Amino acid sequence: MARGSERAGHGAGGAAAGVAECEQLDPIDAAVAPSRRVLVTGASGFIAGHLLPRLASRGHRVRAMWRGRESLERTRTPGIDWIEGDVTRPETLAAATFEIDVIVHLAGSRASTPQASLEHVNVMGTRNLLAAGLDGGVQRIVYVSTLGASPSAGTYFRSRFEAENQVISSGMEHVILRLAVVYGPADHFVTPILEILRRLPVFPMLGDGAFRLQPVAVEDIVDALTQTVERPDVEGGLYELAGPERISFANIVRTIGEVAGLRRPVLRLPDRIASPVTRVARGAGLGTPFTREQLDVLRWGSVLHSSDNPLRSVFRVKPLPFRDALEDYLAGSGNPGDGPVRGASA
Ligand SMILES: NC(=O)c1ccc[n+]([C@@H]2O[C@H](COP(=O)([O-])OP(=O)(O)OC[C@H]3O[C@@H](n4cnc5c(N)ncnc54)[C@H](OP(=O)(O)O)[C@@H]3O)[C@@H](O)[C@H]2O)c1
Repeated sequence: MARGSERAGHGAGGAAAGVAECEQLDPIDAAVAPSRRVLVTGASGFIAGHLLPRLASRGHRVRAMWRGRESLERTRTPGIDWIEGDVTRPETLAAATFEIDVIVHLAGSRASTPQASLEHVNVMGTRNLLAAGLDGGVQRIVYVSTLGASPSAGTYFRSRFEAENQVISSGMEHVILRLAVVYGPADHFVTPILEILRRLPVFPMLGDGAFRLQPVAVEDIVDALTQTVERPDVEGGLYELAGPERISFANIVRTIGEVAGLRRPVLRLPDRIASPVTRVARGAGLGTPFTREQLDVLRWGSVLHSSDNPLRSVFRVKPLPFRDALEDYLAGSGNPGDGPVRGASA
């Protein structure tokens, strides 16, 4: 679905490149970047599923760290070494970070579990990884955080903010990307909405769905992440990346329904019956990114508050419009969940 002619190269110019220039640049030049030894954590996750083959295809030596908890088709991808590791178990991290130049740190948790709190995985896990990386001589870490990371927000956003600070104060070269909600094959956003549209005659919506999001296509994020591995000049930056449009949640659901040929009436749910409905939906095996807590998370980390989108101004990527990208995804596989990575785990 990448439209190469719209893609920006990153071999020339710096962070100050303007939008007009950006859209006239040539596609990424595969010859520009020297090969790096890259460790990708969270390798069983959605974004990694798209990033790993891209890094390998650019000639990098890629090590993929996962917890080895389920069988995964992508472990057979040529050119990628798989290693088991858990960021909450420091003893597993020395081998993972051995002879690595750049870590792309995607491992993270969106909710506390009985086994591990957000603090445990996102903050202490990042600290463990940094310690192992520093011991092993890793040069750079790319930390993938979220829009809305803040010390004064809920637990999830606080854990992201604290992890960012760990990265900044580590002394290792670093780049931090704060992402808006990311969509694409096997995502945690469009896939569960599609599943609900397929399986229910109405779309259950808490509230009016008027809050706006700025969804960004995974391939745009993969473009930016690839550059964080390859470009020296983005070092030390904290970049907030989002899609090109601010769209209400209700409109997003409508667009997905239209593109997938699954137009459904919306059933607005009052808060007091949200919990029973969520329970029933979970019981029926439906992903539910629509509980009050999940919507609050989406709302808080929703849109860029600046008119500058570093996807364009720094990474010189023209972000894909939501409807166009969705049409391509659906035309490509018939189901975002059929992409190169496992199904969503919302
Ligand atoms: N997707 C988005 O819209 C979005 C937006 C903003 C920020 N982000 C952040 O970007 C990162 C990647 O996103 P994603 O959507 O690819 O996430 P994802 O699909 O939920 O993947 C998270 C990965 O982290 C791994 N993980 C969790 N706990 C771990 C631990 N203790 N040790 C090692 N690995 C662990 C998971 O492994 P298992 O498979 O073993 O559980 C999984 O591979 C995440 O940190 C996410 O919070 C994502």
